[in-house]
Amino acid sequence: MAVSHLSPEEEELIAAIREIASERVAPRAAEIDRTGEFPWDMKELLAQQDIYAMPFPVEYGGLGSTKLAVVRAIEELSRCCATTGLLLAVQQLGAMPILLAGSEEQKRKYLPPLARGEWLAAFGLTEADSGSDAAAMRTVAVRKGDRYILNGSKRFITNGGLAQVNTVFALTDPQAGTRGISAFIVERDFPGFAVGRIEDKMGIKGSQTAELIFNDCEVPAENLIGREGDGFRIAMRTLDRTRPGIGAQAVGIAQGALDLALSYARQRVQFGRPIAENQGIQFMLADMATKIEAARLLVYNVAEMIDRGEERFTMYSSMAKMFASDIAMEVTSDAIQILGGYGYMKEYPAERMLRDAKITQIYEGTNQIQRLVIARELLARASA
Ligand code: CAA
Repeated sequence: MAVSHLSPEEEELIAAIREIASERVAPRAAEIDRTGEFPWDMKELLAQQDIYAMPFPVEYGGLGSTKLAVVRAIEELSRCCATTGLLLAVQQLGAMPILLAGSEEQKRKYLPPLARGEWLAAFGLTEADSGSDAAAMRTVAVRKGDRYILNGSKRFITNGGLAQVNTVFALTDPQAGTRGISAFIVERDFPGFAVGRIEDKMGIKGSQTAELIFNDCEVPAENLIGREGDGFRIAMRTLDRTRPGIGAQAVGIAQGALDLALSYARQRVQFGRPIAENQGIQFMLADMATKIEAARLLVYNVAEMIDRGEERFTMYSSMAKMFASDIAMEVTSDAIQILGGYGYMKEYPAERMLRDAKITQIYEGTNQIQRLVIARELLARASA
């Protein structure tokens, strides 16, 4: 397994999470997928075990874990259940704008209940007509006295309708392009905030994905994150730091699929011997394992760059997310192939893993956008 430089305490924490994932998360995964219901028991488990606390600083009630430990935790949970891995990834995503640019008052108010897992967080950037082109959003925020009035809607929001803390991006100056976007903390019970359609998805079935509607939604002026016009940069800086978490989710899903394929190949007897004795199967397993290891190294590497306080890690974050999610699709597809007819049936988890893997190529920026980010950085470096 890839080298990861965690302290002995963090290694112990990850070992404990691995055990929790195998013993308590794995047995729930099929049921969560089948019912498509939000797994409140998994949310409670993450809260009780202080897993939600990991991405939050100690002074705000968190564990102050390294980014490397957070990605490893997401990986371990996702190995058993991608929906449960996403619980941690999205708590970090929704809170990151506050962590990066929030005022002391905002941090004191919002971070401790998020770290305790009492409240859930969501990240409201995407709109029906503004996905990859995040700056094309139409939701507006107009200042009126001591409040901002928000009008518009957000689409495909993970934890939408469940999150008490929604970091929402809106235009405060529609003529100013990306510099006219601002970030706000919108609580679920603010007047004028409503939840629209709840999506029926291909995978990560237990995760709630919803539309957020702002109809003259009143947000106190003190809930502006940073200054007016900072929003787009805050969103980009957030995604730089959370895309490795999606890479980790993808690595976890792929590892789960490899574990399954290995165990099946050793047991399945055809032509008088286990299919694992066939080179055709062995070569597939070898390729799957190698791809996972390469993806894991990319994810751990960028997490450690962030932990070291390096400034220019955007490109590496995109590489990790893109590569890990692409190989997760390949590995889960190959796992189904190794399981043959059984792999295609819902009786085995292989097909769920493939459905779960697909979203990792799409959310937190499609892999086409990741390639764009990587290429832009390469060209900028070349011309510097
Ligand atoms: N860090 C800091 N600043 C950044 C930045 C970064 N990584 N990337 C861009 N910026 C700044 C630029 O420097 C520029 O600043 P100036 O105005 O000072 O020059 C400004 O932001 C605008 O940048 P661009 O001109 O590059 O903006 P763009 O319109 O071309 O868009 C993009 C860039 C990379 C394509 C961006 O729109 C993008 O990332 N799109 C994908 C959106 C996305 O990932 N959505 C995911 C939604 S969340 C989700 O999916 C969660 C979930 O469900 C779990």
